[in-house]
Amino acid sequence: MRILMIMGLLWTACAATGASAADISAGKARAGSACAVCHGVLGLSTLPNAPSLAGQPEIYLAEQLKNYRSGKRTHEVMSVIAKPLSDQDIDNLAAWYASLQIEVREAR
Ligand code: HEC
Repeated sequence: MRILMIMGLLWTACAATGASAADISAGKARAGSACAVCHGVLGLSTLPNAPSLAGQPEIYLAEQLKNYRSGKRTHEVMSVIAKPLSDQDIDNLAAWYASLQIEVREAR
């Protein structure tokens, strides 16, 4: 009972500050217009020098985007692309790419 009350309070606090859980469909929409040209519509890269993002851990993707944004990690393209992203944008994008399921098979 007490735990439920605490969870309720946390939820109210999040709602009040506007902080919300990652929105996968918002991430998908943004990725479709801003990232797909290089990282592929479903996160499998279409450029030889761009990595595939599908199925990568959400926490890793978010960290890389924050590193490009802060300058901790630099790349001529990604540093520019990450600059205007908000924390919420990053969470949404990371959640969308992480939600894509990939199947790996050994080559024969
Ligand atoms: C013009 C092509 C291009 C576009 C558009 C682009 N990227 Fe990238 N992205 C790259 C390249 C090239 C790299 C490899 C950069 C490096 O070596 O650090 C990269 C790297 C990344 C990485 C690091 C992956 C890893 O394995 O460490 C993430 C995450 C990422 N991009 C996300 C995005 C997102 C999200 C968008 C859209 C908002 C986006 N990118 C748009 C070309 C692009």
